[in-house]
Amino acid sequence: MAKIVVTDGMSNDAVNLLKKNGHEVTLQSFSKDELLNGCLSKFDAIIVRSATKLTKEVIESTGSKLKVIGRAGVGVDNIDLDAASNAKITVVNAPLASTQSVVELTIAHLLSSIRHLSKSDRGLRLGKWEKKAMVGTELSGKSLGLIGFGRIAQGVGMVAQAMGMEVHTYDPYLPPKVAKNQSTRLHKDVDTLFKSCTHISVHCNLTDETHHLVNYERMKLMPGKSRLGLKCGNHIVNCARGGIVDEEGLFQALEEGIISSAALDVFEQEPVDSENKLLSHPDFHGTPHIGAATIEAQSRVGLDIAKNVMDSLAGKTVKAIVNSHLMK
Ligand code: MLT
Repeated sequence: MAKIVVTDGMSNDAVNLLKKNGHEVTLQSFSKDELLNGCLSKFDAIIVRSATKLTKEVIESTGSKLKVIGRAGVGVDNIDLDAASNAKITVVNAPLASTQSVVELTIAHLLSSIRHLSKSDRGLRLGKWEKKAMVGTELSGKSLGLIGFGRIAQGVGMVAQAMGMEVHTYDPYLPPKVAKNQSTRLHKDVDTLFKSCTHISVHCNLTDETHHLVNYERMKLMPGKSRLGLKCGNHIVNCARGGIVDEEGLFQALEEGIISSAALDVFEQEPVDSENKLLSHPDFHGTPHIGAATIEAQSRVGLDIAKNVMDSLAGKTVKAIVNSHLMK
């Protein structure tokens, strides 16, 4: 029996699964000071979402009992993987569980952008009937550039193709045959992706390499019209990670009309600062990092992470270990 602490909440089904397998589950969140003062040292495993920050200092204060960190979700940017590996702690995530939910949110943002859904709603609430100003464009016949071509991007690409879009991607780690099988044009250079696409959607991790990859200079390369010459403007969506889109550059591009609409689910600072200039721009709309926030995804995330943590504790093979390459 292991002592498992869940700090950022988890579905009841998942908690029950852990208990049914004989584990002692504590549901408790901790302050930064408590985390730094070794409050995790009595547990064998911890399950977090994005709120609990497992920094080097926190991990070094846990002692030797903690064996597994479970991230109930995909992104592990709130966990210091080097520190966990040095402390011989296995880090597992739930990489598949939220794919469909993020695909659907991305498509929702794309559609909302080009049909001015948020802008129309804001106007209606102020008593405005701006029918003429809300003329949009179709996705059909336009080119969509996907930055990163993992499971979520491939799902977005399939829906976009079904809606008549031409799909392009930039992913330096992708075997070309994967793009070919998905009838997607793979670009070797990110700038050519921007030159070829009127709509860009971000689907990569945040790393030193991808920080501010979507910036003012690149947005300036976008064509603003479809292959057939229809002026549809340029559109940016990011439901992946804050910091990949340079928000200052995006604001400037919106101000200058280089970008016609931008939709972000993720921000450089979260929760987003109410002073963020994007929030007052009419051609911007956003959501508070809700890509995985569906009943279905949260249920799958909980069950997947509970299973991965239990298997890891039992020394079984787990596919979703994210720091195996760092463990000595
Ligand atoms: C994830 O990485 O799983 C998603 O961005 C959801 C989240 O962090 O809450």
